[in-house]
Amino acid sequence: MIKVRNLSKRFGDSEVLRDVNIDINKGECIAIIGPSGAGKSVFLYCLNALQPHNGGNILINGTDIADKKTDINKVREKMGMVYQNFNLFSHLNVLENIILALVNVKKMPRAAAIEKADKLLEMVSLIDKRESYPDELSGGQKQRIAIVRAIAMDPEIVLLDEPTSALDPTMVGEVLAVIRDLAKQGFTMIIVTHEMNFAREIAHRVLFMDEQGIYESGTPDEIFASPKKPRTIAFIKKLKTFNYNVKSFNFDLIAMCARLELFCDKYNIERKTVNDTNLALEEMITYILHHCYKRLQTPNIDIIVEYGDIDKKIAIEIVHNGKPVNPFENIVFMADGEGSDTEDLGIFMVKKVASDINYKNEDGLSKFRIKI
Ligand SMILES: Nc1ncnc2c1ncn2[C@@H]1O[C@H](COP(=O)(O)OP(=O)(O)OP(=O)(O)O)[C@@H](O)[C@H]1O
Ligand SMILES: [Mg+2]
Repeated sequence: MIKVRNLSKRFGDSEVLRDVNIDINKGECIAIIGPSGAGKSVFLYCLNALQPHNGGNILINGTDIADKKTDINKVREKMGMVYQNFNLFSHLNVLENIILALVNVKKMPRAAAIEKADKLLEMVSLIDKRESYPDELSGGQKQRIAIVRAIAMDPEIVLLDEPTSALDPTMVGEVLAVIRDLAKQGFTMIIVTHEMNFAREIAHRVLFMDEQGIYESGTPDEIFASPKKPRTIAFIKKLKTFNYNVKSFNFDLIAMCARLELFCDKYNIERKTVNDTNLALEEMITYILHHCYKRLQTPNIDIIVEYGDIDKKIAIEIVHNGKPVNPFENIVFMADGEGSDTEDLGIFMVKKVASDINYKNEDGLSKFRIKI
């Protein structure tokens, strides 16, 4: 259905896409992920000729979109586009927004267009908003209307560019539900998203874009559970890490725990693991802070929590930049030869919940790796 051959796209001297090749079949749902600036949006814009490409070919059902003989409006009619910022007309109400192109482009009789719009509004549970203006809607509602507007044209392909990234977290779910529904109905879809769990759930294929093109592609399991190329591995790994830095004695422990909870929620990490991780982190930080306090040092502690998708385990990395400390030895390694600490209850608890504890003193840093 879509054939891309050696696609390249430049802005001035900067080449954003180089030699991109991909075939997308009818009914396929493709998720595009990748770092900011990788060219994900530009790729979508090239596909429906919102931006002209500089080299190669894009064939939609065999029609070369850059061919002078091609009626680009006809090609675009087959493609529905949903933008991050909805792009609804603010001076038109919901119904008029939806039927505008149906009546003016598709030349559908107004009554039939309204009937169609109402059916779709029912589908996304927004029929009671048909007379409202975009400004009177929440972000999630606006985006559902934007999706309806795209679908109303009976597109063969739906392109979505980060449809949930402008939304308040509480509204993401309702929009993802609508997109999930479209995927089930068998629409050919290409969705650029930062919602990795969603991409994993609905996509048949995931494209990771980087280095001016499709750097790696595969099934969701291949890309998320066992990526092969270094940049994909780094990207996926980074997604599954939680970082925190403690730089003062009165750092906000509750805020850190709340952020850790959110991180754990995202990966459906089981309750016991979450509790054990919380406990180990709290005790370790308390211990190191106490150590810093006794030695009149300003604390500087880096925390990285990593979640392994395959073994479903958490690894906590704690890097303390200051006088060395290792509570897991009875003797505290101290350059100034000051006494020894005995094990305290907190550290005893960390030992209990950890499956493995590793300590290294490297480059003047105390590094702990604690597996839960
Ligand atoms: N109209 C433009 N003129 C010049 N450069 C552009 C234009 N549009 C995009 N670019 C550049 O092309 C590159 C890719 O941009 P693009 O918007 O496709 O990134 P992206 O992968 O969608 O990133 P994000 O995840 O932040 O949305 C960027 O370096 C960007 O600065
Ligand atoms: Mg983008």
